[in-house]
Amino acid sequence: PTPEAWNRVDAYLSDTLVGHDPDLEAAIAAQEEAGLPAIEVAPLNGKFLHLLARISGARRVLEIGTLGGYSTIWLARALPDGGRVVSIEAEPRKAAIARGNLQRAGVADRVEVREGRAADVLPNLAGEEPFDLVFIDADKESNTVYLDWAARLGRPGTVVVVDNIGRSGEVADPHSRNSQVTGTQRGLEMLGSDPRFDATALQTLDRKGWDGVALAIVTDAAG
Ligand code: DHB
Ligand code: MG
Repeated sequence: PTPEAWNRVDAYLSDTLVGHDPDLEAAIAAQEEAGLPAIEVAPLNGKFLHLLARISGARRVLEIGTLGGYSTIWLARALPDGGRVVSIEAEPRKAAIARGNLQRAGVADRVEVREGRAADVLPNLAGEEPFDLVFIDADKESNTVYLDWAARLGRPGTVVVVDNIGRSGEVADPHSRNSQVTGTQRGLEMLGSDPRFDATALQTLDRKGWDGVALAIVTDAAG
């Protein structure tokens, strides 16, 4: 298909199933205004995350990579009373935009944006209750590190989602020298071989182009 064709389908599905949402649209506008990259998940994918959280009954959600908080809002809205999202963001400028967006969307009381490199912040979460759902959407070079923490900070049954596993098809190139691609490949190989996970992945074709999302469950092997 051509970009024109899949963008038309993306618009059709988004209009039909997601519709307009002032707080989510304001979050995108604020992010753009601040000059942050427009690499948030597409609306259909944001709602996919939201539904996964509801279907799994998640009360505690961990997000690695906040950006402007667009996916964070989707996840926060899925929580039952008393639920919590912890979202880790390395760049203070992004965290500040996200906090404004979360406030406007009325979910700031349910979300804790933790600033710092995820590899530094994640060990500090070890004493807390396990997370029910983990969304990994940060620097792809660290995906294996984040998956390892997802298994440790989760429990058998925890849902794990990894964004951007298609990378315009480059994920299937064994000779890629793009570190984001090789990081993604190492993460997928871990999902396929590490007994702590049972996983699959779906390709996506939407307003963000050709990409994909991996879905995993943490198994009993994680103890
Ligand atoms: C990139 C990262 C993302 O999380 C995304 O959704 C799209 C692109 C990137 O770093 O290129
Ligand atoms: Mg992403």
